[in-house]
Amino acid sequence: MTIHSTPTVSLSASIRQSLEALALTDQNTGIKEKFRLDDQRVTRFSMNFDQFHIDVSKTHISDELVSIYTAFSAEIDFSDKRALFLGGAKINNSEDRAVLHTLLRDPLNQGIDLIDQRALKQAAQSKAEFISQYHQIKGKLDQRETPIKDIIHVGIGGSSLGTQLVFEALKGFDYSINIHFIGNIDAHQLVDILSQCSGASTLVIGVSKTFTTSETLKNLTSIARWFESQGVAKPLEYFYAVTATPAQAQAYGISPSNIVSFPTWVGGRYSVWSSVSLSAALVIGLEKFEEFLLGAADMDKHFNTAPLGSNICFLSAMLDHYYTNFFEVKSRAIFAYDYRLRSLVDYLQQLETESNGKDRQRDGSPVDQQTSPVVWGGVGTDVQHSVFQMLHQGTSLIPSEFIMTRTPDHDLTDHHQELLANGLAQTAALLAGQDLETINRVHADDGLSEAAKKAKIFSGDRPSTTILLERLTPNALGALLSFYEHRTFCFGVFANINSYDQMGVELGKRLATQVKPMLSGEPIQKSAEGFDPSTLNLLTKVLKA
Ligand code: F6P
Repeated sequence: MTIHSTPTVSLSASIRQSLEALALTDQNTGIKEKFRLDDQRVTRFSMNFDQFHIDVSKTHISDELVSIYTAFSAEIDFSDKRALFLGGAKINNSEDRAVLHTLLRDPLNQGIDLIDQRALKQAAQSKAEFISQYHQIKGKLDQRETPIKDIIHVGIGGSSLGTQLVFEALKGFDYSINIHFIGNIDAHQLVDILSQCSGASTLVIGVSKTFTTSETLKNLTSIARWFESQGVAKPLEYFYAVTATPAQAQAYGISPSNIVSFPTWVGGRYSVWSSVSLSAALVIGLEKFEEFLLGAADMDKHFNTAPLGSNICFLSAMLDHYYTNFFEVKSRAIFAYDYRLRSLVDYLQQLETESNGKDRQRDGSPVDQQTSPVVWGGVGTDVQHSVFQMLHQGTSLIPSEFIMTRTPDHDLTDHHQELLANGLAQTAALLAGQDLETINRVHADDGLSEAAKKAKIFSGDRPSTTILLERLTPNALGALLSFYEHRTFCFGVFANINSYDQMGVELGKRLATQVKPMLSGEPIQKSAEGFDPSTLNLLTKVLKA
């Protein structure tokens, strides 16, 4: 890929050289050797945070690495940039916006100088609207002849991934309302969901920051039609909207009294803390939702005040950046050893790749380094039986992250012990590997061929981080998500990119609006953007079908 024009230098030559030299040494010595040389390694590179314990000792972290990144941070004015972010400067420069989702979890904004005091008022107002709508809906639910059994949450990307995660993680087992999340325009999903619901006992919440997202609007319209087919005369009366542009929701036909708004300085993928989570809050309760916000606020405080050398957000981003840029790492894997966190990877994938998957610096010049790796993963132990082969013996180095919960919320202790045993064993195996000498010893009497023995070689020294939650409480979940948000921020500062816009998704959306009329019968034309011969050929084939 050729990127024209000269990049602004963000990673200075001296920092680059130091990191290249260290990476070379690290690759030659490996992590096991680091453990051998330092019997305090686990203590030195593990941190206890209120709600969780994080162990990065099984990575290439070292004092030297931390000191180079601390010097790098001084060069790029990291602390000032953090203050500008938390203080509400317009760090989303391409959209001329502040990025203030942190204000939603600490409305008093303790210890931070806000650049624009109006944001405080906006945060308080949006919280008041959220709470008032919550109580209003609860009141209405109590009065309904048929109790509500289902909520259909219509929204896509940041307007649903976080809410779904919160719902699944915190709903417990004893909940009376189920939430169905629909984002995709593919009506196979819609038809499937509607077949499980009944008009009389279903509530609809449409969530869209812009209220222009075509998938969301079309799904809402089809659901309204379905309500009519179920004998509900004025379906939109039962529809609620959560948006940063209430005028658009009203123009769509949602009654103003059913609209709850949030400030435009809350980015879509950072909006789980806002009324975007109304549906989840209706199921888990406001009290738990508040605890979730407080957990995040605690992490915000840590991020803002802990020295860089013991700041878990900074250190984790440092490792992400080091691996991506100096170990040629292309992807990072996240494995939740807790079924309730099954949507965590989808959530983090959007958070990190939509934020940092960019090839332009803040001033528009090309980046001078690698940005977001691919973020992927799954749920343990399922993934052990699918992708783990590649983690252990594949040709790419994939730093991985294991998230486990010490105390479960069920009493099948034997299951939980086995789950944790598996997670811990995987991190140990990734580090230890298995050499030929061990294989010869263990399989001395098995009559294996040389080839069969060699197939069992694992190089080991594959980095992993373990996050151990004491329990999956609302507080712990809040802290965990805030940790990932700040980690994403730090990486964006290292790479000098704007982590808060998403221009890369716009072109596809625009082209889709040009293809749509052709699929419904208008003549195929080469649009101004110029469709390529392959797309035109595919269009012809689709039309024939
Ligand atoms: O197309 C990407 C995106 O803008 C995401 O950033 C966002 O979370 C999602 O679409 C949904 O947007 P909206 O909330 O405006 O419907």
